[in-house]
Amino acid sequence: MIKSVIKGIGRYVPENIVTNEDLSKRMNTNDEWITERTGIKERRHRKNRNDSEETTAFLGFKASEIALKNAELSAKDIDYIIFATLSPDYYFPGCGVLLQEMLGCETIGALDVRNQCSGFIYAMSVANAFIKSGIYKNILVAASEIHSFGLDFSDEGRGVSVIFGDGAGAVVLSATEDENAGDILAVNMHSEGKFAEELCTKFPGSKFGWSDRMRREPENVTNKEVYPIMNGNFVFKHAVTRFPETMLEALNSAGKTVEDLDMFIPHQANLRISQFVQQKMGLPDEKVFNNIQKYGNTTAASIPIALSEATEQGKIKRGDLVLLSAFGSGFTWGSVLLRF
Ligand code: UT7
Repeated sequence: MIKSVIKGIGRYVPENIVTNEDLSKRMNTNDEWITERTGIKERRHRKNRNDSEETTAFLGFKASEIALKNAELSAKDIDYIIFATLSPDYYFPGCGVLLQEMLGCETIGALDVRNQCSGFIYAMSVANAFIKSGIYKNILVAASEIHSFGLDFSDEGRGVSVIFGDGAGAVVLSATEDENAGDILAVNMHSEGKFAEELCTKFPGSKFGWSDRMRREPENVTNKEVYPIMNGNFVFKHAVTRFPETMLEALNSAGKTVEDLDMFIPHQANLRISQFVQQKMGLPDEKVFNNIQKYGNTTAASIPIALSEATEQGKIKRGDLVLLSAFGSGFTWGSVLLRF
């Protein structure tokens, strides 16, 4: 039987640290509010907001190089790329093809996944299906975001802009028939499109006009269209309901219980959400990994960044049962349960 094992993991974040104190000099906010409501103390922003080199694909490339080294594989060994992001280098094409070129992979397939905070879960689910069906052997799953170029740092945008940060994570998912190796035991994915506008960026999009409007009447393109908008309370309430649902669904479908878990890595949306879910599920502190304090919410990249840190710190070992879950814009949510 073919199993899907995580062979290598990598992460890369820009060097530039932006503290809550730094943000309070740019808008009407403060460390106390941000810490109390979100748990975030600092995040990374690329140094130059308009940098055309330190892009989403570039961050994904740096994380992927580390994941490949960690897996003891070369770019030529990769037979498929899946790239999850909501902040691509171009409106099109997606970042997958840019990563293919940067790494020097063969002319393999490169798929882009647009599922925002759940992007890594969706990407891993697709990778798992390709591996299990015997189609591909080594799939590179990269997730990367540059949020800092597209946030509203005026007072109007403070409810959103203090939360998000830049960063990337990547894993190599490989086929194996080794009975002692790890595997993906369960996946689930969900969506509820009626809430699309509760957390979204409208522009550029076919519904709200694009280049013609920008050319003819740029003054009528408002902050609410070009920057992400979020109905924070509404998203929060749905997140704390959907997280436990998807977690239990994954555990049940693999015949496991919460007690069997060695580690839970939630998408790093808000420390309060993670703590609420942890409590609801009855998980002890040592079985939940959070690092939002250092990176903010890096949407699709948050889970692989956390996975990379948790393994590096010895908090996840080979053979451990690990649950990854996410909820976000769409709404979309889902889980991957794996034996590491
Ligand atoms: O990853 C994708 C999924 N996203 C999420 O899961 C995020 C879910 N939502 C949240 O995490 C929270 O709703 C937020 C952290 C975004 C906001 O926390 P909240 O407790 O829901 O605050 P709020 O939006 O209800 O705002 C409370 C007050 C408001 O002032 P008034 O109207 O009470 O006077 C805001 O204007 O806090 C004010 N406020 C701020 N004050 C200082 C909003 N943002 C800030 C800020 N600094 N950055």
